[in-house]
Amino acid sequence: MWFFYGPNIIYGDGAVDYIEQISGDKCFIVTDKNIEELGMAKILTDKLEKWGKQYEIFNGISANRECNEEDILKGKEKCISYAPDTILGLGGGSILDSAKAIWAMYEFPEFGLDDLNPFVDDLYDLGKKATMITIPTTSGTGADVTWAIVVTRILNNIETKCGSAHKGLIPQFAVLDPIFPAEMPPKLTAATAFDVLAHSFEGLASSYRNEFSNAMCFKAIELTFKYLPIAYKDPKNMEARDNMHQAATMAGLGFGNGQAHIGHSMGHSLGAVYHISHGHAVGLFLPYVSQYCLLNPDETDKSIEIYAKLGKQLGWAKWADDNKKVANIVVDKIKELQKEVDFPMTLKDAGIQRDDFDKKLDGFLSLCFQDPCTSMSPRSPTFEDFKNIAIYAFEGKDIDF
Ligand SMILES: [Fe+2]
Repeated sequence: MWFFYGPNIIYGDGAVDYIEQISGDKCFIVTDKNIEELGMAKILTDKLEKWGKQYEIFNGISANRECNEEDILKGKEKCISYAPDTILGLGGGSILDSAKAIWAMYEFPEFGLDDLNPFVDDLYDLGKKATMITIPTTSGTGADVTWAIVVTRILNNIETKCGSAHKGLIPQFAVLDPIFPAEMPPKLTAATAFDVLAHSFEGLASSYRNEFSNAMCFKAIELTFKYLPIAYKDPKNMEARDNMHQAATMAGLGFGNGQAHIGHSMGHSLGAVYHISHGHAVGLFLPYVSQYCLLNPDETDKSIEIYAKLGKQLGWAKWADDNKKVANIVVDKIKELQKEVDFPMTLKDAGIQRDDFDKKLDGFLSLCFQDPCTSMSPRSPTFEDFKNIAIYAFEGKDIDF
């Protein structure tokens, strides 16, 4: 027996108008000051006023310090005092994750972050006080549909990205309106799209992959290869924006149900140590962790078959071609797309200095090991493997071990 979890999804031009039909008229909006300044909160609040719904905005999610415990606890208190029947998360992944955590702690005020874990059955009952609606403003994280929350916490004096997760944290509605990501600058468009690819490729190869998640991951990859170059070069192209927005959510459903693996372990750790954006961090590692999995000495591993099937289905090779060769063509295609959208391909490109890299390497590797995504990898890395992947990614060398 297996499960596939997801919210109701409303997508396409004008999707935000559907919120009028969702019952509830006292809305608590979780966002940040940037989203307000960019005018996105106003798009939503103008609609709420038109529909006669009340609202309060909590803009206390720090834009420069992703989803963190202090902001969430402040949001929880504000939410409890406002007592809404609807919570709307409006923003990128950190804001949506914060909104999901605030929702859970509003429903169960006695809960702290440590209670948001898969072993707490009460969380299956979320939604009794408020309906949770996510409205992503970027096209990448998939946080609008996932059961996970990535929170920055200080543990043993080290800033650490911790994952909390529970199936009950999946929002009831995800509203994907391309009006919100339409203003993303090209660099952010590329970074978030590589998060989509990292979710999809890792979701396809992870040890939790399944046929439903595979379908979502496959389609998200197809859409991203087609529409990212268009959205990057022609940001006003709404067809490309709409399709990238859908791709992000498909990938979210894919990796949310199939799980991400070591690209995300390394990406989370890089983000925590060097404050590199999540999309850049996981996208940068994608070719390296792909090559590492394709070289798995365990012949029962299906990574080569999975990558090859994808390459053949996307028309990058003939069906009769050798699987190993095609799997490597797929990795080359990822690198070509990185070049096409001026994406950093090495840790050096990302601005990390060698002496700083050497100094922080052990701390970084320790975080990689602690990350829950590591256990989902089709090939289990040793400490030396993680170290060498990081060193190769610093220099831009193809993985050969
Ligand atoms: Fe991600």
